[in-house]
Order: sequence, then structure tokens, then C-alpha cells
Amino acid sequence: MEQTLSIIKPDGVRKNIIGDVIRRFESRGLTVIAMRMLQMTKQEAQGFYAVHKERPFFDSLTDFMSSGPVVVMVLEGPDAIALNRKIMGATNYEEAEEGTIRKDFASSIESNVVHGSDAPETAKTEIAYFFSSLDIMA
Ligand code: PPS
Repeated sequence: MEQTLSIIKPDGVRKNIIGDVIRRFESRGLTVIAMRMLQMTKQEAQGFYAVHKERPFFDSLTDFMSSGPVVVMVLEGPDAIALNRKIMGATNYEEAEEGTIRKDFASSIESNVVHGSDAPETAKTEIAYFFSSLDIMA
């Protein structure tokens, strides 16, 4: 069993597809074991994406991620990190496989609907950014 952090980004919430996104996770064997809706401040988004702070899109990405509510979740399942990223599809939706969340719903490389942790260490840090151990129904 593995855990990963998933975020339905502000564009996903605005498009009213929270249920559709969660259904895709659940139907592929991932279980939601913690969930919260919140709006990040610009500073909180900068903290979350600190690893990307030197990248040219950092300011735009953190503006976008603090532009409206998001849904943060901990997903659990066998190989949850890789499985979540497979269900999400490639970062650039134009390169994403058919049937993935980003292929079906993303409208740009920024407005790409979902975030998912990319490795076990990142998942641990990202989960702790939003949830305490008491919030997680493991
Ligand atoms: S990844 O998934 O970490 O390999 O992707 P990466 O290309 O490193 O991108 C990291 C996050 O930055 C977002 N991104 C962008 N936002 C705005 N503009 C541009 N050009 C851009 N390129 C990448 C991308 O959606 C990733 O967000 P997360 O939330 O990590 O998926």
C-alpha cells in the first residue's frame, strides 16, 4: 500500500468536475483516505511549489494555484503514486494519453486540472503540507 497527494486544481473546481475526477481514482483502485477543500494564499502556493522557484513559470503557477478553491486528497492503494500519475496523464495535456484526466479536461499546461506527487519522498512532504496524521484514515 502506498499513499500520494492529489490536488484538484482551481480550474477543475471551476469546471465542476470534482466528482468525475474522484470517480476516476476510485474506479481504478485508489481510495480517498483524507480530503479537504481550501484556497491557498499566494505564499502557501509558493511554499508548496518551492522546488520550482527558479523556473520561469513559478509566478504564474502560484498565482493560478491561489486563484480559487482546490480539493486536496490523500489517495491510497497499491502503487498509488504511479497509478495516480497514469490516471492524470502527462503534464502537457497535448501529450497526455486518451482517457486520462488531463487529456479529457485540461485546457493548458497550467490549467491541467490535477496535481499528483511524483515520488515517495515528495508524497510524504506534500501530504504533511496539508494534513496531520489525525486527518488521515489509513
Ligand atoms: S512534473 O510533473 O513535475 O514533471 O512537471 P513539470 O514540467 O516539472 O511541471 C511542474 C509543475 O509546473 C506546472 N507547469 C507550468 N505551469 C505554468 N506554465 C508552464 N509553462 C508550466 N510548465 C509546467 C505543471 O503543471 C506542474 O504542476 P503540478 O501541479 O506539479 O502538476
